[in-house]
Amino acid sequence: MVGIARYLFSGRANIGLARGIASELGVSLGRCVVENFPDDEFRVEILEDVRGGDIFLIQPTNPPVASHLLELLLLADACRRAGASRVIALTPYFGYARQDRRVTGQEPVGARLLSDLMSVRLDHVVTVDLHTPAIEGFFNVSVENLTAVPLLVEAVRPLIREDHVVVAPDLGAAKIAQRYAEALELPVAYLHKIRAGPEEVGVHGITGQVTDRRPLLVDDMISTGATMVSAVEALLKAGCQPRITMIASHGLFAGNASERFSSLPLEHILVTDSIPAPPIEFL
Ligand code: R5P
Repeated sequence: MVGIARYLFSGRANIGLARGIASELGVSLGRCVVENFPDDEFRVEILEDVRGGDIFLIQPTNPPVASHLLELLLLADACRRAGASRVIALTPYFGYARQDRRVTGQEPVGARLLSDLMSVRLDHVVTVDLHTPAIEGFFNVSVENLTAVPLLVEAVRPLIREDHVVVAPDLGAAKIAQRYAEALELPVAYLHKIRAGPEEVGVHGITGQVTDRRPLLVDDMISTGATMVSAVEALLKAGCQPRITMIASHGLFAGNASERFSSLPLEHILVTDSIPAPPIEFL
C-alpha cells in the first residue's frame, strides 16, 4: 500500500507558527512562493508535486485579514488545481469572528461571509477557540474547533496562589472563565460589560467576590485591550489586589493596546502564538 503524501505549506500570516509546527512534527515546510506582484496582487506558486496528497495550509486570518484570507484562498486554489486530494486550513485565529450577527440590521454578517469563501476552496478547517462556537455552523465544510485552554491552564498553574479569582471581563467570556476556574480550582467572578464603540467599553456591575483577591482575567482574545482595561479599572475600584494576570487564547494587541496596558498593575499576560507576537513594551 502506498501512503498518502502530506504537505504543510504556510502563507505569510504567521511563518513562526508554521515553522514551529513543522519542527514539532519533524517535517519541512513545503516549498512555495507567496509574494507580491509590482501592482500588489499576490503571486502564489506551489513548488511541490501535491497530486493525490493531503495538504495542510497554515494561515491564521489575523490582520491584515483580507490579505491573509486571500493568500489562503490562492494557496488552496493552487493545491486543488494541482490535484491535491484534500486541502485543510490550519487557521487558529479566525478573523471577523466577532461579526457573527447583525446589530442594526444594516451590516453584513462578516463571519458568515468569510466562512462561505473558505468553504469554496477548502475541505476542512481547524480553528482554536472560535469567538463563538456557533460559527462552526457557518461553514459548509467540517470544522474542528480546538481549544488552547488546557495549555494556558498549565502555563499559569505555577503562578496560582490561593487568593486568585478567575474573572470573566464580560458575559461572553463566562464559559471560558468557568473552564479556567474548574481546572485551577478557583472561584469565578463575572463583569457586566457595555460596549459603546470599538474602543469604548464600560463595566456596570460585578457578580462574585473580588475584594482583596488577585484577578486572573480570561478571555478568548485581546484586541485593542479596551475590554481588559475597563475590567482592570472596575476590579481595582471594587478593591481587588493590584496584581493582575491576563490570559487570552489570541493576542492581537491592536492599535495602542501596549500603551493602554503600560499603566496597569499587571503581573503577567499569557497568550498563545496563534498570532505573531507584536513588540510588547509593557512587560
Ligand atoms: C468580545 O466579546 C471578545 O471576547 C473580547 O472581549 C473583545 O473582542 C476584545 O476586544 P478589545 O480588546 O478590543 O476590547
